Amino acid sequence: MYVGELLKNLDRIPSGVPGLDELIGGGFLPGRVYVVTGPPGSGKTTLGMQFLAEGAKNDEKGLFIALFETPDIIVRDMLRYNLGILEYVNSKKIVFYDLGEILLSANRELSWDELFKLLLEIIKRENAKRVVIDSFSLFESFVTNPEGKKKELGRFVRKLRTMDITTLLLSEMLSSEKYTDEYYLADGVIVLHHFMRNYQMVRAIQILKMRGVPHDSNLKRMRFTNEGITVYKEAPI
Ligand SMILES: Nc1ncnc2c1ncn2[C@@H]1O[C@H](COP(=O)(O)OP(=O)(O)OP(=O)(O)O)[C@@H](O)[C@H]1O
Ligand SMILES: [Mg+2]
Repeated sequence: MYVGELLKNLDRIPSGVPGLDELIGGGFLPGRVYVVTGPPGSGKTTLGMQFLAEGAKNDEKGLFIALFETPDIIVRDMLRYNLGILEYVNSKKIVFYDLGEILLSANRELSWDELFKLLLEIIKRENAKRVVIDSFSLFESFVTNPEGKKKELGRFVRKLRTMDITTLLLSEMLSSEKYTDEYYLADGVIVLHHFMRNYQMVRAIQILKMRGVPHDSNLKRMRFTNEGITVYKEAPI
């Protein structure tokens, strides 16, 4: 391997998903913001937890900001994978923040500006290196000014980059033709798919966009294993 290649590899944030890093040039780029989107039950939360567990394994603190699912339920659901989640939660290498509870009990809607300020405050306070927001699309139900999103999201993404925090925005896929602002502003978009083929559920992953990384955008097979999601090199069918 050339020295240049080695240096390039050093500068990567491993995803924690077996097989995924090979598709994205060795891992995520530090300080960048990525969208992970997909239909219900496609594996978004699992992928997010694998990402945080990988960081925790390497002593990088991870922050999971939960909107509608409560942290105790998320942890309980993730315990069936061999990711060491409980140990990381107990040692505070993975920290949960129940933002949904705060927003629901505040009983008032916020502007995008206020929402992103709140998020940055939480992220700064926790001093995490990896952040997962589950799910980012749910913020839409808490804001007063939907039209102000793009500008404030742009500001938020810029700020995260300066803080050297790698962030996954988990996002619900409402339609495969409707792209929301985060798709454009994020540095990468990963799509999780599931569809029926001969009465069998087939799962697949697609790198829709990954700035600065030459990649293949074809669907790759994906399965749930005891370690969470695993990605394979071959096409799903
Ligand atoms: N071993 C398995 N085999 C098949 N499917 C599995 C397995 N483990 C989990 N699943 C599926 O994965 C789903 C859980 O994945 P996860 O919660 O990460 O999805 P999600 O995209 O976050 O879903 P939601 O949109 O509901 O938040 C389960 O609901 C189940 O359908
Ligand atoms: Mg989920």
